[in-house]
Amino acid sequence: MKNPVLEAIRNRRSIRKYLPDQIKDAELKAILEAGAYAPSAHNEQPWHFTVIRDRQLLDRISEKSKELMAAEDTDWIKKMGRDGAFHVFYRAPAVVVVSMRKDAMSPLVDCSAAIENMLLAAESLEIGSCWIGLVRYYFSIKSELPLLNIPEGYEPCYAVTLGYKAQHPGKPLPRKKNAVSYIG
Ligand SMILES: Cc1cc2nc3c(=O)[nH]c(=O)nc-3n(C[C@H](O)[C@H](O)[C@H](O)COP(=O)(O)O)c2cc1C
Repeated sequence: MKNPVLEAIRNRRSIRKYLPDQIKDAELKAILEAGAYAPSAHNEQPWHFTVIRDRQLLDRISEKSKELMAAEDTDWIKKMGRDGAFHVFYRAPAVVVVSMRKDAMSPLVDCSAAIENMLLAAESLEIGSCWIGLVRYYFSIKSELPLLNIPEGYEPCYAVTLGYKAQHPGKPLPRKKNAVSYIG
């Protein structure tokens, strides 16, 4: 079956190479709005989005994440931390840090739904995106968090990179078989 929503779902891939040009404000606004239209337990909408377009801050977050990654025991994380060319945001021109309200019913799930909505909205606008978990290393440095303007009672969980694509990874990755059972 073919429709624009299904196509965006099927075509979305993590983009890890971006053009330096900033995305348009209207595009960013549409993506953030898509995030805010995600479902949430009890309709709590327990998310806060911090848009970062400041190159210096983005580079600082990457560097500090990498410092902690480099000291990890897990080999692939240590390797990435020590790789001079690696940038935790792939030098995307815009990043949305997603924070969750700590006392909400289901904050991580709700924020994850918001993130997926943003990734799909970005794809529908031909904007590249990637869900970034490695930035949690940076979020663990409590003294840095005031730089992120996070409201009281919230904590950052993930980030989403946004920018025009400088790579087109092509076909979706194969999906696992046997992920569905039917009863009736
Ligand atoms: C919770 C979560 C954390 C992720 N963290 C990262 C990350 O830090 N860096 C990265 O490049 N990709 C990250 N990804 C993207 C996955 O690697 C990617 O979605 C997966 O390999 C499938 O590829 P696709 O998105 O192109 O379909 C993350 C995805 C999820 C759901």
